[in-house]
Amino acid sequence: MVNYSSQTFCGNNAIAGVRIAELVKKYSTPLLVLDGQEIRNRCREYRSLMEKYGLKYHIMYAGKAMLNMGICRIMEEEGMGLDVVSGGELHMALRAGFPPQDIIFHGNNKSRQEIEEAVLAGLGALVIDNQKEAEDIMVMGEDLGVRVPVMLRVMPPFEAQTHPHLKTGNNSKFGLSMGGGQAESILKLLAASPHIKVRGLHCHIGSQIQSYRIYIRMAYELLLFAAKYPQLWYEDDFILNLGGGFYSSYQQENSSFPLEKMLKRISFLFRSTAKDLGLPVPQLMIEPGRSIVARAGYTIYTLGAPKEIPGQGTIVPVDGGMSDNIRPALYAAVHKGYLVGDHSSRPAEKVSIVGRLCETGDVLIKDIVLPQPKRGDIMVITCTGAYTYPMASNYNGLPRPPVVLIENGNTFILVKGENYEDLIKRQEIPHYLIKKEEKSFILGSNAAVKITKKVFARNRT
Ligand code: LLP
Repeated sequence: MVNYSSQTFCGNNAIAGVRIAELVKKYSTPLLVLDGQEIRNRCREYRSLMEKYGLKYHIMYAGKAMLNMGICRIMEEEGMGLDVVSGGELHMALRAGFPPQDIIFHGNNKSRQEIEEAVLAGLGALVIDNQKEAEDIMVMGEDLGVRVPVMLRVMPPFEAQTHPHLKTGNNSKFGLSMGGGQAESILKLLAASPHIKVRGLHCHIGSQIQSYRIYIRMAYELLLFAAKYPQLWYEDDFILNLGGGFYSSYQQENSSFPLEKMLKRISFLFRSTAKDLGLPVPQLMIEPGRSIVARAGYTIYTLGAPKEIPGQGTIVPVDGGMSDNIRPALYAAVHKGYLVGDHSSRPAEKVSIVGRLCETGDVLIKDIVLPQPKRGDIMVITCTGAYTYPMASNYNGLPRPPVVLIENGNTFILVKGENYEDLIKRQEIPHYLIKKEEKSFILGSNAAVKITKKVFARNRT
């Protein structure tokens, strides 16, 4: 089992050794805080388990879970590779100085421009999703006179047990079917091109998967598939990538994905079965995202006024919601939370924590027992490090909160909070809609800016 005992839970008043009151004073709410040590611990845990089984391995952090330049730096320091899914994610990584050869590029509809950027940057591999993409990459390799390293994403004939939105196995929009000849014909095409180097196969069947057995099955299917083309693989560079999706509990209990069990079986499979099938010993690549960052995240909110809903109990709004954490609304994710400070004199009350967005589904925690919450209380929702900020929006004109890293008792901005001006800085008014009395328009807009700045704007560094 991945062991979470090293995680620093700091009671109700501090996160990773920093007082929450201080965080709120410095950065206001809502605020997303990441505990850097927790992220590093998870990376180290993955690495030490991978090392234990002696296979050559690559751990590519799936940046889609939480990506910014600071996180890229931590990942590189911790010896992780990176999986990106767009030119935008690639840009963040390259601007952070992440080594391109340790990046792989996914996506079911990469644009030609993205492919070109990836090829020119010299990435470790482009993960091919469909025939057109394969053709584009071959042409680009030829035009640029390079040999492009690729992996082929295949879709196994089974699916994982998880939330329907998180399944990417059988019949999903990702990758190429292993059964119907699709994957085979592209593999042949790639193998024939002098401008392509096929480094291996990739498969990702979903997220929040609890059973390790399905990964063993996946590894086995990949081996059988690869064995159809034994001449294609390089003795020293044959990779089987099992994707990510390893379960991570949002409840801060000691329950998580049995990575060690999985690695033990896979190491046996890769050594013995691969040999029996006439294949080189594969290198194991995995792409964990959530299980690296989810538990490091804490979202801090200020509570609004509780309200009794007849027949439904009490709801308590926070100053954020689905615009900074859409997971409860989208996937029925269940988070825990607590009020900051000592409220032991208050009676316990079962309430639901709702967001402030104009959506009935904007419920962050359904039924939680708290010391009777009051307007102005500070509340922390835990395990919000994955798929929160990257899926955040400005819905209802809410500025996105800052993302702050804590390391060694110090706080650092990873992403600045937005303010009202950020909401309009990319907007334009078509010339024919600009008010005729330009003067009053300018005065009006200045006044608005002043009000925005003085009265409402968050003063965040
Ligand atoms: N590799 C590939 C190709 C992926 O598509 C994903 C996630 C991962 C790795 C990382 O999976 P993880 O270890 O983080 O489970 N927005 C959803 C999750 C979508 C996952 C998309 N792909 C959520 O909030 O649960």
